[in-house]
Amino acid sequence: MRILLLAHSFNSLTQRLFVALRGCGHQVSVEFDIADSVTSEAVDLFKPELIIAPFLKRAIPASVWQQYVCLIVHPGIAGDRGPSSLDWAILNGESEWGVTVLQANAEMDAGDIWAQATFAMRLGRKGSLYRNEVTVAAVSAVLEAIDKFNRGVQPVALADVVQARGILRPPLQQTQRGIDWQNDSSAVILSKIHSADSFPGVLDALFGLPCYVYDAHIATPSTLNLVSGMAGDIVARREHAVLRLTSDGAVWIGHARMLRAADELEKPFKLPVADCFPEQVALLPELQTELAHAVDEWSELRYYEQGDVGFLSFDFYNGAMSTGQCQRLRAAVQYAKRQPTRVLVLSGGEDFFSNGIHLNRIEASAHRPFESAADESWHNINAMNDLALEILTASNHLTVSALRGNAGAGGVFLALASDKVWAHEHVLLNPHYKNMGNLYGSEYWTYLLPQRVGTQAAHSLMQNRHPLAAPDAVSMGVIDAVFGSDVRTFSEELASRAAALARAPDFNEQLAAKRARRERDEAIKPLQQYREEELAKMRRNFYGFDPSYHVARYHFVHKMLYSWTPRHLAIHRNNLLKATVPSP
Ligand code: COA
Repeated sequence: MRILLLAHSFNSLTQRLFVALRGCGHQVSVEFDIADSVTSEAVDLFKPELIIAPFLKRAIPASVWQQYVCLIVHPGIAGDRGPSSLDWAILNGESEWGVTVLQANAEMDAGDIWAQATFAMRLGRKGSLYRNEVTVAAVSAVLEAIDKFNRGVQPVALADVVQARGILRPPLQQTQRGIDWQNDSSAVILSKIHSADSFPGVLDALFGLPCYVYDAHIATPSTLNLVSGMAGDIVARREHAVLRLTSDGAVWIGHARMLRAADELEKPFKLPVADCFPEQVALLPELQTELAHAVDEWSELRYYEQGDVGFLSFDFYNGAMSTGQCQRLRAAVQYAKRQPTRVLVLSGGEDFFSNGIHLNRIEASAHRPFESAADESWHNINAMNDLALEILTASNHLTVSALRGNAGAGGVFLALASDKVWAHEHVLLNPHYKNMGNLYGSEYWTYLLPQRVGTQAAHSLMQNRHPLAAPDAVSMGVIDAVFGSDVRTFSEELASRAAALARAPDFNEQLAAKRARRERDEAIKPLQQYREEELAKMRRNFYGFDPSYHVARYHFVHKMLYSWTPRHLAIHRNNLLKATVPSP
């Protein structure tokens, strides 16, 4: 079928549907919801058999839904309506939630229902639930809806859906999420901040200054034993986060977005709390934690061992890795390499393994005295490269990158620095850099990718800029194995697979072969040469006279609306191009 995906942006859910539908053999084109006229034009050009809207912020024009069947993916149970579905579900402590695929009509979210899928809720951020449970349910419900559409089955009116318990809910307001630091428990505060994750955040104040807060974690009793104060006091710091006391404990708060001051032209963007309030945070006592800390103790890095396997887990908010985070992780890898284990598993966060250099932190450098975005980009990519090199040169261990969540740009190639790359079946990879203003990329990708897939396929992956589902990445040889249907089953099997690797009868032969391969490759072309060649191109991206990267980063960080759909997604517009440009 010819299917048009109409979306506000090519977000994770839209990407997952894109790969799933193409995987089923459909011809899929994408148009961003920019203006009614642009949508109508896209429809006229593509003449889709079906339109699917996985992520929209506005209604589809009547002229389109009256002519074409348009399936809306709504992140709520049957009957649920409104723009804050997941926010309400988290705040109300729903134990089960769902996704409904309904047909667009004159009333928002009120059309006939084609399919629905439910899932058990868990304690997690809105973004995390969206990228995992919602996305899996949405793909399954959309595939069911397409199947019904093809069989001529008609959708069911909401009034005829048995036990539809959803209702119309208004947009969730800040007053309904506001934190009462004197009376709210840590669990209530956590659910308020989780419900506002990604956007809009919870409007609060830190150090007396109004800001939106994100990225909260409950403090353990052992941390509470080290601090004292009144509910609402900010009493300590760790990494980029601050510890704030609640009525029954404390929470770590990792990220904030300042309110726009009256004289400021630009909208402030989300940053680590330590970057928003450097002077105030520096005065707080630091509560460091051991690398081998308890599982419930919040810190970005954790190391533990099971038999001959060392597990180094890292979880960076949004998968973004600043210079300092790369350096800390590198030091942890060095520590792990010194341990007498056989296998080292590098396990990324539940939502993202890594999304490469920290674009928000870099953007912030553009606005600070004595700093520059180009310099910070340079430091950051070098720190990423140092980290990748540390993994690449682990000669006493077999290394494994465990992808519990998606990876993008440099984050994918960082994963490829390990000997083995494993993921679960719903992981999505974006193994390319060009979307960020034609960035060339580094992280030794020119060494790592062609050796896995060959020069031609490496070139195509980089040029096509398409997302890649983990099972497809295995077929292409980008990664080595896919197992487990979610983070939990993946993590369980990960431990047993890593243990089996460490116990493999031919472990010593595998290690010797790895060392020999590295020596042979180094003799053909040293890693330093790959690095220098890549960085020469990156230097031009950062310092050259073409500002594309800086413009793209600015747009990305400030979440600017698209004014057109990239041609590699809007294939209907490529046809337009061919039709209007005479062939040579
Ligand atoms: N630096 C800073 N923030 C980043 C980031 C990065 N490298 N990559 C993602 N994020 C943030 C987004 O701004 C967003 O923030 P939010 O909490 O305000 O919503 C969040 O992570 C999720 O990203 P989003 O784009 O909504 O997720 P997605 O699943 O739809 O798309 C990617 C994933 C990787 C395709 C997309 O985030 C992306 O292109 N990231 C940039 C990758 C890159 O170019 N890195 C630099 C070169 S190495």
